[in-house]
Amino acid sequence: MSKLPYISTSIFSKMSSMAKEHDAINLSQGFPDFPIDQELSKIVEKSVRDNIHQYCPSNGHPGLLDQIGGLIHKSYHRELNTSEELLVTAGATQAIFTAIQALVHPGDEVIILDPSYDCYIAPIELCKGIPVRIPLGPDFLPDWDLINKHVSSKTKMIITNNPHNPSGRTWNESDMDELVKLLDNFSNLYLLSDEVYEYITFENNHLSAHSYEALKSKSIVVSSFGKTLHVTGWKMGYLVAEKKIMDEMKKIHQYMVFSVNSLCQHVIFEYLKSNSLQDISIMYQTKRDQFRKGIKQSRFITLPCDGTYFQTLDYSNISTKNDVEFAEELTKHFGVASIPISVFSEKNKHKNILRFCFAKQNETIEKATSLLCKI
Ligand SMILES: Cc1ncc(COP(=O)(O)O)c(C=O)c1O
Repeated sequence: MSKLPYISTSIFSKMSSMAKEHDAINLSQGFPDFPIDQELSKIVEKSVRDNIHQYCPSNGHPGLLDQIGGLIHKSYHRELNTSEELLVTAGATQAIFTAIQALVHPGDEVIILDPSYDCYIAPIELCKGIPVRIPLGPDFLPDWDLINKHVSSKTKMIITNNPHNPSGRTWNESDMDELVKLLDNFSNLYLLSDEVYEYITFENNHLSAHSYEALKSKSIVVSSFGKTLHVTGWKMGYLVAEKKIMDEMKKIHQYMVFSVNSLCQHVIFEYLKSNSLQDISIMYQTKRDQFRKGIKQSRFITLPCDGTYFQTLDYSNISTKNDVEFAEELTKHFGVASIPISVFSEKNKHKNILRFCFAKQNETIEKATSLLCKI
């Protein structure tokens, strides 16, 4: 019998193959179509010839651990003991799986805020935990009254995602305050804070769990170099938690992968020594603005986008079809592939909205937006 009977082909694979079949511009899956930073390519070329191809220590390349420690200090003023509180993982996906396996026991409830990225449910079900899916408010920000109603002594973990995929929204100070209060009220509750888009925010700075003293002893923070350095295929991420939690996560990590790809760890270590992450948001903000300007004359309603590389569009002025049908129609007949956001929710409350990835070359954005204006 299948351990995951409800899981089928992901929407990302489905929409990407439909885009290929119909020769549509693929703004569905969240990956950049432009070259990586030349500095990074140069380091890759040089490193291939270096003697760095054997196993790294299980928790990570020592130099990379130091660099990440420095980065977290610079970004969030958090001082880490990098050998005890940091773990390099094979992308955020493995980080999330590891954290859930380490902390969730059979019968434990885990709060998930819908629409939610698709890698939370399966790991919870595999350890016989119970996902409790709560819709975000109409503006894609947390509905704290609803969340507070669902948290009890049975709740082991709350998974948050800020900046948020698929909506592109970011949390306010008041949301962070509510989160602190919630964790303060329930001593058994852990926070799994998925912050993979932490370096892609626009008008407002990112509010990280790292910056809140009260959250430190109860939080696991997830990051992704795939997102930050636009090298999604490298599958490189990391986890931060205090020692007691980290010791449990390291046990799982040891038997999942033992250690992560040494070449990529070495390359990122070298890169971080002399490059800052400051310009990433500026680059994506320019692309967001180009996308939003390009769509202005269309019949779509452009929703707010504070971070990530996703823009959501409301199509209620154009069609009464549901979002899956409309996304298929858009791909087959209008040449642009997107993601229908209902697939990220148990009970869809956010109707008639599609997600478009703008991490694309300017030319791709221009072609896609002019096609969308013809609908
Ligand atoms: C919110 C969120 N979390 C986690 C991941 C997984 O990241 P990675 O590719 O580093 O495994 C993604 C990737 O799209 C994501 O959007």
